[in-house]
Amino acid sequence: MRRMTFLPMVVATVAGVVAFTSRTSPRAAAQDAAPIYGVIIPPGYRDWRMISVAHVGEPVNDLRVKLGNDMAVKAYQEARPFPDGAIIARLAYRAVTSEENNKVFRAAAEQRGLPAEQIEKLLVASSVAGPPTNVQFMVKDSKKYASTGGWGFAQFTDGKPDGEAVHKTCFACHAPAKDRDFVFTSYAR
Ligand code: HEC
Repeated sequence: MRRMTFLPMVVATVAGVVAFTSRTSPRAAAQDAAPIYGVIIPPGYRDWRMISVAHVGEPVNDLRVKLGNDMAVKAYQEARPFPDGAIIARLAYRAVTSEENNKVFRAAAEQRGLPAEQIEKLLVASSVAGPPTNVQFMVKDSKKYASTGGWGFAQFTDGKPDGEAVHKTCFACHAPAKDRDFVFTSYAR
């Protein structure tokens, strides 16, 4: 009886050790990390607080929300420099027309007696977040990323890091925001 309960425990323990080591081995980490900067997807980032939102028109046509971890949001709110450990996330979604929203707005406009051409425009007026395109991160570490303004950059599509060529473009394009610590987005109150 004792032997029978002991065996599954051993199996479970060994399986646990194997799962743990394969998840934390350098090879697995390198596969999930973005090239150049070695940034991985920060756990729990989807629940971070909002910094602001943005919309980029055609041909990109996406909706973007910027989220920050506690260190980043605190720095924004207190108008202080971003400390090491601050992370800003930029989540982008294809903007798609919401027929459901438009129907409601159209009905309300008709009730208010708006002119027909104004009501026609309301047909395409409401966009919502459609499928995600990619997620970008800026991770502050003034020593590790000294040569790129103290920021590590990373972009992931479907949870996988994008290639080296993409990551070579990040810092140069953020250079115009040098006097704001290379960050474009300001905090939306
Ligand atoms: C063509 C220029 C350009 C390139 C290339 C670029 N960015 Fe940006 N980035 C911007 C601009 C402009 C904004 C602000 C507007 C927005 O969010 O679209 C921004 C915003 C961001 C933000 C939100 C914080 C902020 O600065 O406003 C993050 C995070 C970010 N980019 C990461 C990256 C990463 C990672 C890469 C490379 C994979 C990258 N960016 C490449 C121009 C660029």
